[in-house]
Order: sequence, then structure tokens, then C-alpha cells
Amino acid sequence: MIITIAHSKGGVGKSLLAWHLSIAMNVPIVDLDFQRTLVYVDQLRQLGGLPGREIIHPQSTEEFMELFNAWDESRDVIIDVGGFDSDLNRMAIFLSDVIITPAVDRATEIAGLHKFHDVMKEISASTETELKANILLNDVSPAARDFSLMEGMIAQFPHFELMKSVVSHRADFYKTMNEGKGISELPSSTKALEELQNVINEIRGIK
Ligand SMILES: Nc1ncnc2c1ncn2[C@@H]1O[C@H](COP(=O)(O)OP(=O)(O)O)[C@@H](O)[C@H]1O
Ligand SMILES: [Mg+2]
Repeated sequence: MIITIAHSKGGVGKSLLAWHLSIAMNVPIVDLDFQRTLVYVDQLRQLGGLPGREIIHPQSTEEFMELFNAWDESRDVIIDVGGFDSDLNRMAIFLSDVIITPAVDRATEIAGLHKFHDVMKEISASTETELKANILLNDVSPAARDFSLMEGMIAQFPHFELMKSVVSHRADFYKTMNEGKGISELPSSTKALEELQNVINEIRGIK
């Protein structure tokens, strides 16, 4: 299963989620962000004495295509797409089995989601497929219970589906990442891990 974390906007938690998901699911990451965020996090990990993760950083569209032409379909992978629109990012969205789009639940998010929905619409039209992105509310207040603003908005977008799981703003997510660790590698269970596990279960149910 190819799981792509995609949004044409940066700062929504793509890399953070890709990192924790890849460790909890024990799958490699393809890092398409030119900022190489996860490559650096993995270097921190190795400096801390942990074994490095499998992080593939293709240098070109050709290299990316070569990688996925030979991809063993039974092998899971997570693609962290850069927060911008490009042919390479569109290619990743098209060939993935599950598209996860993190979004914060704020009215200011609407413009960004409109833009990304246009991207989804264009890829669907040019490839004659009905692509759906699964919107994952991320970085929400742990006390938030009412997501009706986002529910109402996302229901209007045919290429979006709102996920049931929600990921809260939790220090554990960035603290562990700053040490090159995954949330699933802490010695005891946390609320953050519980939320991540819900996301993983939901992803497995999508495809
Ligand atoms: N659930 C969360 N809890 C706490 N911090 C988060 C959460 N999601 C994202 N962040 C923080 O928000 C910032 C942007 O996240 P990042 O993964 O780099 O976004 P993107 O890859 O979409 O640009 C980072 O500082 C990250 O630590
Ligand atoms: Mg990123």
C-alpha cells in the first residue's frame, strides 16, 4: 500500500505525521520535500545512537518513476510530499492507494483546502480517475470536540473525505521527533500514540 501525505500547503503536519506513522507501521519513507526534513530528523536519530530509518530521497522525477515502476505492491510505503504543487507531487498523489491530507481546523485553512482541492480535481480529470483525499484534522486543541466547521466545509468538496480520527496538538509529537524518535518508541503509551494508532487503523480500513 502506498500512503501519500499530501497538501499543497506547508506547515500542516505532513512531515510530522509521515515520521511517526512510518515508525509505528515500520515502513520506509519516500521524502519528496526539497527541504529534506525527514532526512535530517533521521540524522538526529542516528546521532542519538538509534538505527537509521529507511528514507528514500529521489533526486528527480525520473528517479522517482524508476523507484515506483519496480515497487513491490505488497510493500507498504509512506510518501511525504513537499508543501507545494509540482509534477512530481502530482505523480505521487496519482499513484498512491491512500491520500492523507492533514488540515488544521481553522477558518483560515479554507483557502488552502480550496487550492488543494483544485489540484485533486485536475489530477482526477487528466487521469480519468476519481481521486479522494482523506482529510485528517491535525494539531487541534486536545479539548476540542466540535468539528462542525470543518465537517460542513469538507462535505462540499467531492474529492475530499473527512477522516474520523483526529490528531491533537501534543508536545510528545514534536519532542520525540526532535530526538529522532517515533511516538511509538516511548517506553509507555501516550495519548499521542493512541491517536496515531486510530489513524493507522482507519488507513488500513480505507484500502
Ligand atoms: N499534532 C501536532 N502536535 C504538535 N505539533 C505539531 C503537530 N502537527 C504538526 N506540528 C508542528 O507544526 C509544525 C509544522 O509541521 P510539519 O510536519 O513540518 O508540516 P509540513 O510538513 O506540512 O510542512 C512543526 O513545528 C510540527 O512540529
Ligand atoms: Mg514537511
